[in-house]
Amino acid sequence: MENKQFNRYTVTAALPYANGPLHLGHLSGAYLPADVYARLLRLQGKDVAFICGSDEHGAAITVRAKKEGLSPRDIVDKYHALNGESFRRLGISFDIFHRTSDPLHHDTARDFFKTLYEKGDQFDEKSSEQFYDERFAQFLADRFITGECPHCGNPEAFGDQCEKCGRDLSPDELKNPRSTLSGEPPVLRPTKHWYFRLDRHEEWLKTWIRTGALDGLQLHDPHTWRNHVTGQCLSWLDNGLHPRAITRDLDWGIPLPIEGPEAAGKVLYVWFDAPIGYISATRQWAADNGRNWEDYWKKEDTALVHFIGKDNIVFHCIVFPAMLKAHGGYILPQNVPANQFLNFEGRKFSKSRGWGIEQHRYLEDFAAFANKEDALRYYLIKSMPEQKDGDFKWDEFVEAHDNELVANLGNFFNRVLSLTQNYFGGEVPAFLPETALRGSAAETRTTAQDFLSGEVLSQLETIARETEAFEFKNALKAFMDMSSIGNAFLQNNAPWTVRKTDPDAPEVAACLNACLQLCAALSVAAQPFLPFTADKMRRLLQLSPLQNGDWTALGAALRGEGAASPMPVGHRISAPELLFAKINDPKDPVRADLVAAQKAHLATILAEEKAETPLAPLSPTLAPSAAPIKDSVDYEAFSRMDIRTATVLAAERVEKADKLLKLTLDLGFEQRTVVSGIAQHYSPEEMVGRQVLLLANLEPRKLRGIVSQGMILTAEHADGRLSLVAPDEAGFGNGWVVK
Ligand code: 2FM
Ligand code: ZN
Repeated sequence: MENKQFNRYTVTAALPYANGPLHLGHLSGAYLPADVYARLLRLQGKDVAFICGSDEHGAAITVRAKKEGLSPRDIVDKYHALNGESFRRLGISFDIFHRTSDPLHHDTARDFFKTLYEKGDQFDEKSSEQFYDERFAQFLADRFITGECPHCGNPEAFGDQCEKCGRDLSPDELKNPRSTLSGEPPVLRPTKHWYFRLDRHEEWLKTWIRTGALDGLQLHDPHTWRNHVTGQCLSWLDNGLHPRAITRDLDWGIPLPIEGPEAAGKVLYVWFDAPIGYISATRQWAADNGRNWEDYWKKEDTALVHFIGKDNIVFHCIVFPAMLKAHGGYILPQNVPANQFLNFEGRKFSKSRGWGIEQHRYLEDFAAFANKEDALRYYLIKSMPEQKDGDFKWDEFVEAHDNELVANLGNFFNRVLSLTQNYFGGEVPAFLPETALRGSAAETRTTAQDFLSGEVLSQLETIARETEAFEFKNALKAFMDMSSIGNAFLQNNAPWTVRKTDPDAPEVAACLNACLQLCAALSVAAQPFLPFTADKMRRLLQLSPLQNGDWTALGAALRGEGAASPMPVGHRISAPELLFAKINDPKDPVRADLVAAQKAHLATILAEEKAETPLAPLSPTLAPSAAPIKDSVDYEAFSRMDIRTATVLAAERVEKADKLLKLTLDLGFEQRTVVSGIAQHYSPEEMVGRQVLLLANLEPRKLRGIVSQGMILTAEHADGRLSLVAPDEAGFGNGWVVK
């Protein structure tokens, strides 16, 4: 499919629940990539609506309010303000941060529902018995019922999922169910609900997800969607779509807009109204800014892009598109570049264990660190879980800052400013486009013009291309490479040496002018990733603050297309000032101390956990014994095994087989089905998008009627733990052969 040209972009970031502070995993999952993308588009002069807001309905908020003795309104007001403020301080440049309790949203969601309802074929109405907490006088959402898991016996399984064995459950499967509100056994009571006929949308959704085509139109290129996103959708679709209840018995939310006693006390399910929140927020933003909101949701030349974490994939790629299509008149998402999850120092973020750090806490704890916002943005983009889960590590955070931001970008910028100050009194020297210079690779020859329109421009184009393809790590690397090119260019031309023999040598001015143009280019290219640094660079270069369209103007200037050069000759810059200060600076340990305090805090949590669950002394009879080493094999026997890397495209449980998962693997050149006995250790959702090692030439075997074409490699400990054996590198391609 050819690259489609769009005239405007509606960029959404998942509406966070307003029932708690967001942590760094949320930031890296949805908000930061969305911000980088929106910022680049604006710099390219594109028409962008960057939409977010608080998701303020749902049972979780009412439960939290009850527990804290507050009203749901108090809870959402508190966290809407807290999260909105943290986003602002971290430079997340939403055009609007709306909220779903706003009357405009209630109207929008009500109208949306009514349009679907009046079509007559989009809802079923059904009565069923549901769990009710008599003490709290309310029906219980699945999450608020606990009991014993029928599969693994976990006594604390939830009504929607067992967190121990990972299985999806329904509340009636739990043994000895209890309400999490009162702790008492719930009773069953009949209640009526409205079910969205998702099943009616199965066929077109399958085609649209697989091919990007709908009603004879090619709407998107499916190859631009991430594998794990498509894989999760297909695995859902292959299991068949079913009607989904979109009403709840609750006193907090959007009342069901239907007359009659049966609708009394019902609200729209939070996952029905939340995505409509993107539309309401756009309406509010458009009204505030003299725009027409419908252009951003209904015109075919608009690209709708949803940034989310992987737990939201099904709602954004299946349920919401079905709602939009059922309504009619709306465009469908062009892409949903969902991220995987970010872990924190080797574990999942956990509020109850205090494991991880929240956005507002980071800003408070690092108040004394001037570059805290961009230091965090830099490391989070560098470690972004685009294809597989990532891990935040404080040591890596420090290394990325000190060895890359400071040693590469900060160093180049400072050297150029200082040399300009020392040699030319802080004025941009002559632009000498023809003077012979060396390029960034040793021994290559270039001129200032060729350097700018060649090496520098090419980096700028790579940054844009990678960002447009949602490859944010690659884009950030291309940005840092642009700075490395500057350092190498400066080093190879060594104006300090040239000057010693001839103080007026044209090479000195030619080199420094080109370096100053590159600094100006870096100040533009930095902005999507490091907006605070970009502002500082502009101030030190005495350039005006960035405006929409500056990326495009810079490209033209670097090409030498008559556009004014970014740094005109004679332009005066500020006195040099360091862009960044190292974290690990023995002379100024304040920043290193802040990081040390974070690590000490984690060590305390670990020590407390250890004290709470002392390890039983290992008796020789009880300690799991190591498996004995098997008989030797010769190399020839080993080399006959064909082991390759592959990516899991889809995963599902095998019916009536507790231990088996059916996996669809991408080997790079073909797809295969493999049945693997890992279901008690990995859920299907955890597997999709992962890279695995596959013994590809194992004879096919039939397991539960499914032909398994190979075996994925796992390691098993004597105590029963099992771990996938996988390539270590993020983005490791498929089809590598293990030798
Ligand atoms: O998972 C969540 O945090 C949800 N509140 C996301 C909603 S996204 C959209 F649909 F609004
Ligand atoms: Zn279980």
